Formats: sequence, structure tokens, C-alpha cells
Amino acid sequence: MSEPTAISPAPVVDQPDTDSWVHVAELKDLARRKRKQVTVGSCPVALFLVDDEVLAVDDTCIHQERSLAKGTLLNGQVICPGHQWKFDPRTGEAEDQDGRLATYAVQVTEEGAVLVAPQPVTPREATTSDSATHPAGR
Ligand code: FES
Repeated sequence: MSEPTAISPAPVVDQPDTDSWVHVAELKDLARRKRKQVTVGSCPVALFLVDDEVLAVDDTCIHQERSLAKGTLLNGQVICPGHQWKFDPRTGEAEDQDGRLATYAVQVTEEGAVLVAPQPVTPREATTSDSATHPAGR
């Protein structure tokens, strides 16, 4: 009887757990305003429709926690209604600032259901901006 051959485990890849996608919206809900606040688990998440692609990031701004879904979508960037920081909804990165929003994987079914993975693809990182620690933030 021969020894069993060792088999290398499959490489670990950061893939969302596809069994737990959360149905948060319908694609038609995004058609007019191109943005929508939804809840994934207990987390507020903002959906944006950019170039026919649905993107999902934290809804809460890393600066002073305003809702990004209430902001403006301009040229593929999200502009926070608080102090106009600009975010790339593909990466969660803030333009000219440190810190980033968490990003979430999204899939849209043939029927137009928008599903979001409950665990972020990239984590949220706090900003070190001075005004982030001073609520009056001028
Ligand atoms: S709260 Fe978003 S930029 Fe200040």
C-alpha cells in the first residue's frame, strides 16, 4: 500500500461568501437618481450607478459621518454633502485625503435584483484629517 500523495490546498482568495449575498434593491431603483442608501446587515451602504455598473461603499463619510447617498455623483465621483470631499466609489479612496471607505462586492441578477456581499472587499480606514476630530470642523 502506497502513501497518499500530498495535495496542495487551493490558494486562499478573498472572495465574498456567495451564499450570503444580501438583496438590497432593484436596479430600476437606481435608474433615476443613480444613488441609494441601503442596509447590509446592520451597516448603512451607499449604492451608486456609474457607467451602468452598480458600486457599493460605506454610506457614512470617513470625515464627519454624513450620508454619502445624499451627496452628488459627478463624473464617476461621489461628493459628500458635508464638506465636499470626493470619493472614488470603485476604490473607496478619498481624493486629496487619507483614509478610505469600505467597498463591497455587488452583483445584479438577470431580473435586476441588486445583491451586496455582507463583508467588505476592502476595509474602511479612518482619516487623520484634523477636522475629522473636531465636529465644528472649519
Ligand atoms: S462629512 Fe463628508 S466631507 Fe465632511
